[in-house]
Amino acid sequence: MTTVLVAYAGKNGGTREIAEVVSEELRALGHAVDTRDAADVADVAAYPAVVVGSALYYSRWRRSAVRLLEHNVAALRERQVWLFHSGPCGPGAALVHVSLPASVALLAASIDAERTTTFGGRLDPALVRGVLPRLMARGSRAGDFRDWERIRTWARDVGHRVSSHVSL
Ligand SMILES: Cc1cc2nc3c(=O)[nH]c(=O)nc-3n(C[C@H](O)[C@H](O)[C@H](O)COP(=O)(O)O)c2cc1C
Repeated sequence: MTTVLVAYAGKNGGTREIAEVVSEELRALGHAVDTRDAADVADVAAYPAVVVGSALYYSRWRRSAVRLLEHNVAALRERQVWLFHSGPCGPGAALVHVSLPASVALLAASIDAERTTTFGGRLDPALVRGVLPRLMARGSRAGDFRDWERIRTWARDVGHRVSSHVSL
């Protein structure tokens, strides 16, 4: 049994819920999983496999997720690492692939992480704070664009790869 770390960083709970669903699928495949806010992860020593997910805000990753990668580059290079980000909202959001922000792309390359996956996000005007963000959250971009079946399929794929790596 492998313990997988699923670390998430967001503002309004949407990314945490994705991390929880990813964790659920990994557990269903027999892995032990620690699901943690990236801000609470000091090091990754205990985990042979790591998933890090961030919400996208203004085309950037959340600081705590970037910090987790920055502070653990050497250890992560020795581990299986998957990255995802969640953000696109509005019609067609589920099909949008967003490239990693440049600084995160550099870290991903140093770590030799798997290709990053983009999941749609959730924009709920009731949860968003600030005048400008609230304006953004209105109209056709408002709503929940997280495709749970895609998220679950991706998580199962991660789980299978963790299993096959461990049994090598
Ligand atoms: C102020 C603001 C800026 C955002 N910027 C981006 C962005 O640059 N790219 C993107 O794909 N989504 C963007 N989003 C959408 C969020 O990433 C999406 O709502 C996500 O699900 C939020 O996750 P959270 O609930 O974990 O904070 C933005 C949302 C807000 C409110």
